[in-house]
Amino acid sequence: MFGHRTQEAVRRLENGADRAELELPGVTAAVIDATFEVERGEIFVVMGLSGSGKSTLLRTLNGLLPATAGRVLVDEADLTTMTAAQIRELRQRRMSMVFQHFALFPHRTVAENVEYGLRVQGVDRSHRRTRAAEALHLVGLTGWEDRLPAQLSGGMQQRVGLARALAADTEVLLMDEAFSALDPLIRKEMQDQLLLLQARLGKTIVFITHDLNEAMRLGDRIAMMRDGRIVQVGTAQQILTAPADDYVSNFIRDVDRARVLTAGAAMAYPHTTITPSVEPAGALDIMRRGGEAVLFAVDGAGRLEGTVTEAAAQAAADQGVTDVRGIIERSVQQVGAATLAGELFEAAATSDFPIAVVGESRKLLGVVTRESLLRALAPPPQAATESTGRDIPEVSANA
Ligand SMILES: Nc1ncnc2c1ncn2[C@@H]1O[C@H](COP(=O)(O)OP(=O)(O)O)[C@@H](O)[C@H]1O
Ligand SMILES: [Mg+2]
Repeated sequence: MFGHRTQEAVRRLENGADRAELELPGVTAAVIDATFEVERGEIFVVMGLSGSGKSTLLRTLNGLLPATAGRVLVDEADLTTMTAAQIRELRQRRMSMVFQHFALFPHRTVAENVEYGLRVQGVDRSHRRTRAAEALHLVGLTGWEDRLPAQLSGGMQQRVGLARALAADTEVLLMDEAFSALDPLIRKEMQDQLLLLQARLGKTIVFITHDLNEAMRLGDRIAMMRDGRIVQVGTAQQILTAPADDYVSNFIRDVDRARVLTAGAAMAYPHTTITPSVEPAGALDIMRRGGEAVLFAVDGAGRLEGTVTEAAAQAAADQGVTDVRGIIERSVQQVGAATLAGELFEAAATSDFPIAVVGESRKLLGVVTRESLLRALAPPPQAATESTGRDIPEVSANA
């Protein structure tokens, strides 16, 4: 398996390589506690306020900054024990970087900029040309090879930066606020393009941003960074539903939860499912005890058959029918677990019954009710601490 592991990777601000120096007066550690692993083929986002240590962390990952303490592993190789030449080699062959301000050579053409890394690697001219053309094609810049960067818009310049990284054909891309300088619309386009490219190329990407919406759109997983420490690592769903502390809670307050949370995160679990062989009277009994107007019927393997309503069960019981098989309503609203919560509003508003969330071969995973949907969409008032009820302010009686 491939991974970076940094343990207390620390920015070296003074000479000496001892963790004890971090405690010295006048020394600021930019990154002090950051342990995580990046899986092959994922987009791993590092997210935090300006000054939280994101860039320092990224530069430690590719050896541009030495760590005072801790390790950085690429596969099993420890970057912190490599010679300068080995690190250079690693940077050229295995990791490319995309910068916020594009970092293009102004007097070189688009093609020359894209080829630059290959030239440093000693790739011959005709191969360079071919690979640059391929990379420019990937980012939609075919035909712009001979222009100068200044003749391109900001979005296009960043495509050149991306093409340069892609041309190097490294398995790892490190992107430091790569889209932060772009206008919102262009930025969204670039995010879409990155996701498309990633679906095709399957790179391992460490993407830095201070924008949580961007983090949630792009990241398979997100590391939340605060004052040099990683305070939480998780998927967007995990971070939205269980923020580790108030810092994370504050961030997620601004997120459009309906566009991030899925049916899987918004569902409740139907504690009462029945099988088709249940008697109508038995179904009625379960409904009344559970206070439910509808039950979900599943087969022996947990696959959704449909719903049984109270009215239908009552009528069947009155007629002396032996089981609910014949009264199962099969046209049930059902969605996959990955459906965005925002797409459930209409169904939840217009139907009196919960929406079934189904997995492979119609296995019933849970149900989305109006209540569970609203609960998921309301941001947590506090960090994920155990609710004691004591946080609720007392209602004052004097009006
Ligand atoms: N060369 C430097 N010398 C001293 N302090 C630095 C230097 N570079 C960064 N810092 C400090 O380290 C902290 C983290 O910086 P940085 O990694 O650039 O954060 P971010 O990328 O999250 O904005 C900040 O407090 C910053 O002021
Ligand atoms: Mg930065």
